[in-house]
Amino acid sequence: MKKNSLIFAALFAAIGFTACDEGDIIDDDDTVRTAGKTVVLTADLTGIATWGSQYSIVLAGFAESSNYAVTQKRIAALTDGHVETTLDITADSLSTIELCATNRLRERVATFAVISMEASHGDTLRLDAGALDIGQFATLQQLVFTGTCARCHGLGATPAGELTLVEGKSYEQLVGHPARQPENGMRVLPGSASESLLHHVVNGTAPNIRFDHSNMIKEQATLTLIDNWINGGAQP
Ligand code: HEC
Repeated sequence: MKKNSLIFAALFAAIGFTACDEGDIIDDDDTVRTAGKTVVLTADLTGIATWGSQYSIVLAGFAESSNYAVTQKRIAALTDGHVETTLDITADSLSTIELCATNRLRERVATFAVISMEASHGDTLRLDAGALDIGQFATLQQLVFTGTCARCHGLGATPAGELTLVEGKSYEQLVGHPARQPENGMRVLPGSASESLLHHVVNGTAPNIRFDHSNMIKEQATLTLIDNWINGGAQP
């Protein structure tokens, strides 16, 4: 008898612990049960072909606080235009479904559109992403240059380092453009990240740049994205 009640106590503790772990924001029933739902994505995409073979453009499901897709389905289209893709979810506890770029480890590199699983209670969720430029360079612009760099490089009166990184100007200021100091070579030499000043500046390895940029980009996946973009020919 005593042994039985101990087992029950342990079971209850385990159940209680799991429920608490998975549902601390809203109601357990709503957050946990995502299996059996279907997400339908519609979008008009440009730039999908600019991503190299290191990446996939996918419709993917993520659990809270993880950058690795639990489930993902590749967007098959290779040309610009209308896309419609369906993802049947078999996993529970997903928090978002995202149209995104993932690398070979299924790690999220950039998100283009997102739908929260908490937001919908039906079995079919619609993600209407509209018209999006998801090209690799457009992604870098959104992910890095506009948010992190432009405040010093172009939005103020005089751009730091005589470099403007605002949208519409950044490409011509970087690709095939000599660095301010001739000994620093090219800002971006297409095909060679290791010979491009941009790579060295953001990694903190540029010998002649006094301003320390090394902690501005927090994600290793973003630093790798810059390198892969350059090594892949720095396409616009
Ligand atoms: C807080 C201001 C600030 C921010 C934010 C900033 N930079 Fe800079 N950047 C500078 C300054 C100042 C220089 C000039 C340093 C020097 O020449 O010693 C510079 C120089 C550069 C250069 C060298 C240009 C050349 O031709 O010499 C590059 C490339 C560069 N930054 C890229 C970036 C990128 C990419 C980001 C965003 C991830 C960024 N910077 C964010 C201040 C900033």
